[in-house]
Amino acid sequence: MKHPVYLDYNATTPVDPEVAEEMIPFIKSYFGNPSSSYSIGRSNKEAVENARGQVARLINCQPEEIYFTSCATESNNLAIKGIAWANKNIGRHIITSSIEHPAVYQICKYLSTQGFDITYLPVDKYGRVDPTDVENAIRKDTVLITIMHANNEVGTMQPVEEIGAIAKENRIIFHTDAAQSVGKIEVDVEKLGVDLLTIAGHKLYAPKGIGALYIRKGVQIENLMHGANQEKGIRPGTENVIHIVGLGKACEIALRDFNQNQRNMRFSRDRLLNGLVFQLGSKVHVNGSLENCLPNTLSVAFENVSAHALASVISSEVLISTGSACHSGETTISLVLQSMNLDFRTAAATVRISTGKKTTEEEVDFAVEVITNVVKKLSI
Ligand SMILES: Cc1ncc(COP(=O)(O)O)c(C=O)c1O
Repeated sequence: MKHPVYLDYNATTPVDPEVAEEMIPFIKSYFGNPSSSYSIGRSNKEAVENARGQVARLINCQPEEIYFTSCATESNNLAIKGIAWANKNIGRHIITSSIEHPAVYQICKYLSTQGFDITYLPVDKYGRVDPTDVENAIRKDTVLITIMHANNEVGTMQPVEEIGAIAKENRIIFHTDAAQSVGKIEVDVEKLGVDLLTIAGHKLYAPKGIGALYIRKGVQIENLMHGANQEKGIRPGTENVIHIVGLGKACEIALRDFNQNQRNMRFSRDRLLNGLVFQLGSKVHVNGSLENCLPNTLSVAFENVSAHALASVISSEVLISTGSACHSGETTISLVLQSMNLDFRTAAATVRISTGKKTTEEEVDFAVEVITNVVKKLSI
């Protein structure tokens, strides 16, 4: 067992050894520019196109609907600003939720300084948007709905399929940030009814610095960058072939091992929770609803325990994250927990524990033991 035990897979994942293997020839040997017409260029172009197909198969779209970017943040920027700018003469109203990642929230905040009106929909105590609220928020000038697929902090899955149907009926473009869901739950753009979908490489065992955006065929988008014709001119700049190859392989593996990975993430998460409840009983408070949650995510508060103290004391043995920020002794509760109306004490006691596809029983049992001991000490 490796120390410290890593249980923060929603923050990032390690590169899968099979992914690394696939990338090595492109680091060591295949350096051609995909735009060059001679063979070492052409073979790299083929590698990029092969990866596009691998990503497309995972989310059930056409390869030509996949655009490679540098990360989820860039994909979200391209999607949201791209649709906003392309439709600014039609309307300037955007619907989003109050529990988006800053990589969506901050874009919306920026657009509100550029003449756009943003509706931030509330969520219930489980962190879920009500599709009826989406329907009621639609106006004549609504040009975009952007609501995440699954939340990074509490793991809550949004009713994206229902929202997709509402968007379609009202002919409004629908984007979802699926950075946390791809590889953990089924992500099928047809079933979800989305027009744009964000993918983050490093959340699914590809390296950092690579992402993708699905853009449904026919959806018009304004570029953020201008340059040559890579990615059909929508995202110009010489392709990051090494990382693109890595993302492609990671998507192939995610599809191939989907059932097994999902089973293990869920088994580990549930074993962890059961272990904690067995040891600590009513001191354990689960945020959100496990029935409607990513299989790997546990947002949990320990009564009368500071989440920061807990995460910091155990950090040489177990790595987890907190649901609040602590600066100069002042605790600020995350917007997500605030939106779920969690009381300050519970929010300040909340940690996020997220398991991975290779998390072992041994790691989970060790984490339960470490957390239990520290919680008992801290809550005296
Ligand atoms: C839901 C969600 N969206 C977007 C991002 C941003 O990803 P990146 O920092 O790779 O751009 C994250 C990262 O945690 C996330 O969880």
